[in-house]
Amino acid sequence: MDIKRIAVFGGTGRTGRELLKQALDAGYKVTAIARNPKSLKEFQQYENFEAKQGDALKSETFEDHVEDCDAVMSCLGGTGSRFAEMTFYNDTLKEMQKAMEKHKISRFIGMTSWATQDDPSLPIFVRWVLRPLFIKHVLDSMYQMEQYAEKTQLNYTIIKPPGLNPDGSSGKNIQTLDNGQCVPGCANYMSCSDVAAFMLSCLKTDKLDKKITAIGVK
Ligand SMILES: NC(=O)c1ccc[n+]([C@@H]2O[C@H](COP(=O)([O-])OP(=O)(O)OC[C@H]3O[C@@H](n4cnc5c(N)ncnc54)[C@H](OP(=O)(O)O)[C@@H]3O)[C@@H](O)[C@H]2O)c1
Repeated sequence: MDIKRIAVFGGTGRTGRELLKQALDAGYKVTAIARNPKSLKEFQQYENFEAKQGDALKSETFEDHVEDCDAVMSCLGGTGSRFAEMTFYNDTLKEMQKAMEKHKISRFIGMTSWATQDDPSLPIFVRWVLRPLFIKHVLDSMYQMEQYAEKTQLNYTIIKPPGLNPDGSSGKNIQTLDNGQCVPGCANYMSCSDVAAFMLSCLKTDKLDKKITAIGVK
């Protein structure tokens, strides 16, 4: 399918802003759905941009905003406590799915992270410190989102990056590992710009249809 119009969730965040900029520069028609769309005024200069108010946890607040879109992309991020379970990632996917099904949209591109499950290939610090002691509940919710996506009829691609940094494009080739919890040999960080570029590239190929793919740069 030739994708021309996309809905973007999380566009006010670090990766989301990069995704909006790159998608608009590439000529896609973009509808950003945000809790505070006024914070996206820097993009109003683009004719192919519109921002609509919506809460990703309540499909009734945004379901009509995705009408006429060919794909939904998400850089949503939930804040959680190190000590409490959370359901943000799977909950928001369920809400986006409801809106997508209403308007017969099947293509979904979202992001979780390296290490949503324990794996011997993870960097030692991530495996033994960061994951179990600090971000386990966030990663658990991301894993539930990945599992939920696999049960839907959506044509999903879920990108799993390492730690994010604000640098610009690295200009390097992005390495991938389908069903990986990391990409061995890659750095523990990559830029939001590179992640956004990779997500956008998924609109042009069917190679990552129904895939959950770790990415990284060497
Ligand atoms: N930090 C890392 O190193 C790292 C590594 C790997 C993966 N990740 C994951 O990658 C994703 C993107 O990260 P990021 O740092 O670019 O994200 P971020 O800057 O934290 O932005 C999160 C976005 O989600 C939006 N959001 C949260 N709850 C919402 C709701 N109920 N309705 C609508 N929008 C909502 C926020 O909107 P508001 O402006 O309204 O708050 C914001 O646009 C996150 O899922 C993050 O966990 C992060």
